[in-house]
Amino acid sequence: MAITDATETQAGADVAAVQGAWPFEAKPLSPLMGAEVFGLDAAQPISDATRDAVLDALNRYKVLVLRDQDLTPAAQADFTRCFGELEQHVNREFRGAGVPEVHPVNNLDENDKPARGRNIGNYSWHTDKSYMPLPSLATLLYAVQLPPDGGDTEFADMEAAYAELPEARKQDLQPLRLWHSWERSREKSGSRHATDQEKQDAPPVNHPLVRTHPGTGRKVLYLGNHSSHVDGWPVERGEALIDELQTFATQDQFIYRHTWKPGDMVIWDNRCLLHRAVANFEMDKHVRILNRTVVRGDLPV
Ligand code: SIN
Repeated sequence: MAITDATETQAGADVAAVQGAWPFEAKPLSPLMGAEVFGLDAAQPISDATRDAVLDALNRYKVLVLRDQDLTPAAQADFTRCFGELEQHVNREFRGAGVPEVHPVNNLDENDKPARGRNIGNYSWHTDKSYMPLPSLATLLYAVQLPPDGGDTEFADMEAAYAELPEARKQDLQPLRLWHSWERSREKSGSRHATDQEKQDAPPVNHPLVRTHPGTGRKVLYLGNHSSHVDGWPVERGEALIDELQTFATQDQFIYRHTWKPGDMVIWDNRCLLHRAVANFEMDKHVRILNRTVVRGDLPV
């Protein structure tokens, strides 16, 4: 998608029209998606009106970057709870010691030394918890410790990608359903294999490949590394379709890359985005720690 002056001017005009209604300021980060949010302290209780404004801004920008936050795990959990039910992680290694719903995302080994690690699923394109019957609405990720450079997070816009498909292709894809599997996702990302307990907690589920975003009414592609194959198709044929669509949908023109700053908390909409961490730092030398909370969403339709 070409970024033109006209696009930016239009985006600017739209922003000015909406922002008066929000109790914070939102400054777009790119014409595609993303806005920096100023004037919202996630460590303080928020009103229902502010919660609704955050959800409205999320529908609009898909990624919100709250700068200069100072959050304990308990405060992050409290803020997240304003938006719905918090998810526990299937992987018990990700359940925080103090607040189990806060998942530490890090590159530490069993001796707390920086390493490539055995939980590297976050480095593959995915949408959070699509292997659950009710996948995530939003994820909130707070920077605790960052490497000196890099350690970015990328977001790919599945609404923009779907919109670029030819009409005939959209018709072909419309009836398809994809299976999503925690077990298969672990294999695909090269992470340690799923345990029996995890397989019991998260058996495979299927969801529509093309879902309608409940907040905007727009159609999006719903796939990612947790998706394994197409319901009713030979597995290999389905894998090939997922690969092809995902390669198309994660081209540069659909991507916003977030470069973290200390104090950032990023909120993203899992219903219309894929995301992944970028291994653009020395993982066996520098520490990258972020605290993640996840809000349960609706049944994809
Ligand atoms: C995630 O996949 O939820 C975390 C992404 C990141 O580590 O940047």
